[in-house]
Amino acid sequence: MLATEPGIRVRYILPTSPLSCVRRNGLIEVWQANAGGRYRHKKEGYLAPLDPNFGGCGRCITDEEGRYIFRTIHPGPYPWPNGVNDWRPAHIHFSVFGQGFAQRLITQMYFEGDSLIWRCPIVGSISDKDAVRSLIAQYDHDNTVPMDARAYRFDIVLRGRRSTMFENKLEGN
Ligand SMILES: [Fe+2]
Repeated sequence: MLATEPGIRVRYILPTSPLSCVRRNGLIEVWQANAGGRYRHKKEGYLAPLDPNFGGCGRCITDEEGRYIFRTIHPGPYPWPNGVNDWRPAHIHFSVFGQGFAQRLITQMYFEGDSLIWRCPIVGSISDKDAVRSLIAQYDHDNTVPMDARAYRFDIVLRGRRSTMFENKLEGN
């Protein structure tokens, strides 16, 4: 998922901590809006322009230790027709596959410091604040690329008390 046009390039890194382990050689898929908050989707109605250099989706296989990196642009927030003035915070949709397509967990990743997170009705549907925090990627200065890209760390935890909040959680944990 590469972009050559404006937008803030970021990458996401999964560390080697056992608590953070996505299964090794597992398939991760991501999809997101462009820097203006626009999806490349035929039902998209937001007025922000499409970016001809950005598709908005990608996939990768985690390494032997369950780590992954995506290099992309920072997605823009976008409004949605819910209340009078509701906005989705900048986010990236994640899908993590198990042994096959029937084992799939889906969630959304947010960015540390985004004040829209706590105003979003969709985020607000999660009553457990710690579960919300598990969806917020942390700025990771040590893995930034000088003069190029910022980095955020998003640990996906599949099992246990600290597991990531998944949209289809009942199926997954
Ligand atoms: Fe979205």
